[in-house]
Amino acid sequence: MNFIAKVDPEIASLIANEEARQKEHLELIPSENFVSPAILEAQGSVLTNKYAEGYPGKKYYGGCEFVEKIEEIAIKRACDLFGADHANVQPHCGTQANMAVYFSFLKPGEKIMAMNLAHGGHLSHGSPVNFSGIFYKVIPYGVDKETEMLNYEEIYNIAAKEKPKLIVAGASAYPRFIDFQRFKEIADAVGAYLMVDMAHIAGLVAGGVHPSPVPYSDFVTSTTHKTLRGPRGAFILCRSEYASQIDKMVFPGIQGGPLMHVIAAKATCFLLASTPDFKEYARKVVENAKALAKALLERGFRLVSGGTDNHLILVDLRSFNITGKEAEKLLESVGITVNKNMIPYDPRSPFITSGIRLGTPALTTRGMGVKEMEEIADLIYKTIKNKDNPKELEKVKDRVKELCKGFPLFAW
Ligand SMILES: Cc1ncc(COP(=O)(O)O)c(C=O)c1O
Repeated sequence: MNFIAKVDPEIASLIANEEARQKEHLELIPSENFVSPAILEAQGSVLTNKYAEGYPGKKYYGGCEFVEKIEEIAIKRACDLFGADHANVQPHCGTQANMAVYFSFLKPGEKIMAMNLAHGGHLSHGSPVNFSGIFYKVIPYGVDKETEMLNYEEIYNIAAKEKPKLIVAGASAYPRFIDFQRFKEIADAVGAYLMVDMAHIAGLVAGGVHPSPVPYSDFVTSTTHKTLRGPRGAFILCRSEYASQIDKMVFPGIQGGPLMHVIAAKATCFLLASTPDFKEYARKVVENAKALAKALLERGFRLVSGGTDNHLILVDLRSFNITGKEAEKLLESVGITVNKNMIPYDPRSPFITSGIRLGTPALTTRGMGVKEMEEIADLIYKTIKNKDNPKELEKVKDRVKELCKGFPLFAW
């Protein structure tokens, strides 16, 4: 940080503040993680200087001999890691990866069937305020009111009636395994393409603790920055027959020059995710989520669907007489970072919500385990119980700081 401190002290000091925040807070947002210093180095490298429009072997610019190799390696590693025929590693973000698939295979006004945002889906799966909901006719499916899990029979019934051109599986806030084989059967039965957005669970899939969507999907999209623990970015996997359409849509269709520094970091991320260490990490992410869920249940919290199979937990706060918005703010005040989230069939608006969403990927990266998860559940409970008791809140805050000190960032 020596250079930026000299050139732009204002930004340098804000970066330093953010680094301190990350070190001193318990990060429980399930879509966030801490990348390896190797990933930070790749992203901060001279590759940011290079224009490299096009694909390896067909770049439009001179001087691409090294960046081309980097992109080839990233593509090969992505295919090897997930057992895919083809990978495009250029999408700048998950939303653009989804856009590339929709634009490649659907005309405006055609039907996409995807998970209701209010039940755990993502904005780019058809929200009316997102391009996906503006350009396409969106048919939502949700979770069962009783079990709060996907009901595949119901999904089939909706698909059979609506005949969507594309079915999207995948979510931002669904704590259970997704049965991709069932989704494929439904898509086949109604003549739809199947796209799986595995952004949240990509690291669990790579680590072998969540079933893979790749054998069942026409297209798989993902971000690299969540459980996969890579740089902020995305990629698309598809069968060979769709490769050239997808590639043409990413560039020149919807993007310009690829971010070669990020593609290098993606390559390193795929390499790291293929190691036995990462397998162990993925196993611990799930073990920790189950431990956190159990300890929250023991303290009287209701969890959507009763628990978790993956890295995330949705907590229904209604019996504690606090909204998701209030809980997010209160927990932040003691150093516990979570995000407010709607629960299925939530009577409150997305700006208030009845729930919070918790996840274990980031704290597992810090080295925390089952013992810490039990304590964190207790700290969350104490914070919410003592929301009007500043003395007790101060005690929780001190303990959060101590806990963080015991698990330094960038120590691996
Ligand atoms: C399931 C899912 N898909 C896509 C995205 C979008 O990723 P990005 O923010 O990179 O556009 C997210 C982000 O949270 C997500 O949860």
